[in-house]
Amino acid sequence: MADASAHKRPKLAGVAGFPVAHSLSPLIHTIWAHRARINGYYIPFAVPPGYDDFARVMDSLRVIGFAGVNVTIPHKENALRYADEESGSAKAAGAANMLTFAADKTYADNSDVTGFAAAVREQVGECTIKSALVLGAGGAARGVVLALKELGATDIRIANRTREKAEVIAAANNLQAVDWKEKSEALGGADLVVNTTSLGLNGEPSLDLDLRALGPGAIVADIVYAPLETPLLKDARVKGNKTVDGLSMLMHQAVPGFRQWFEGDAVVDEDLRAALVSELKRRGGA
Ligand code: ATR
Repeated sequence: MADASAHKRPKLAGVAGFPVAHSLSPLIHTIWAHRARINGYYIPFAVPPGYDDFARVMDSLRVIGFAGVNVTIPHKENALRYADEESGSAKAAGAANMLTFAADKTYADNSDVTGFAAAVREQVGECTIKSALVLGAGGAARGVVLALKELGATDIRIANRTREKAEVIAAANNLQAVDWKEKSEALGGADLVVNTTSLGLNGEPSLDLDLRALGPGAIVADIVYAPLETPLLKDARVKGNKTVDGLSMLMHQAVPGFRQWFEGDAVVDEDLRAALVSELKRRGGA
């Protein structure tokens, strides 16, 4: 029998991660829902590491009627495993940051890829990126590597503290793995360098990168957004290089999820950025 109250039910989505309390995604989606006058809730779920707990929570969310969830550390690979079908970018990245629940299937997607490319285009405009250096070899690095290819990079180097992980990504994507100790030298000739590690995050050590070899036109990007200007981005600004901050990527990666689950328009603009910056300041992390 058709449920007459169905149209009054709020749309439900959320983010699953561990930890997740610091996530700005609930604020982003709440602002967009408010703008679009959509009756919707976006809820953070702290799901302890491990596939079994993750799968149990996802099963429950499906039953409750969630439209989908974003997935963050440490569950991006679990998300791919849980899904019945995956997009090309999720498959290529080996990780998913979006799960969409349909009646009989779960779909995995990876909006980190388009999110990073959109952030670069937004903050530096049209640019030519042929050569790039990626620092880190976790789930985020995999998405960023695909985004760099989309932006036209043909010569990508990757350095990671644990070299073997960089070598795995390098072998799968035809990149060159560089030793972590050689990362500063590897900046020579790069059009873009991006930090995908947690170094520079509030409470973590800074990334120890000497920018002397970096060319004046090179772009410096960081996926860390708390603080908004990481020590790496500050060094780059002082040196006169263009920068792309982690908040920009965070906002852009959120767009596809909102459109899909809340079925409304999601626009990344200065008002949204200002609201997020103000929240970061309130938390003492900007
Ligand atoms: P994500 O999904 O966000 O990429 P992750 O898979 O946990 O998260 O990856 C974290 C990245 O930060 C890894 O590249 C990690 O390096 P290792 O592979 O050697 O662990 C990097 N990282 C974290 N702490 C670091 C530190 N103190 N020094 C250097 N790299 C660090």
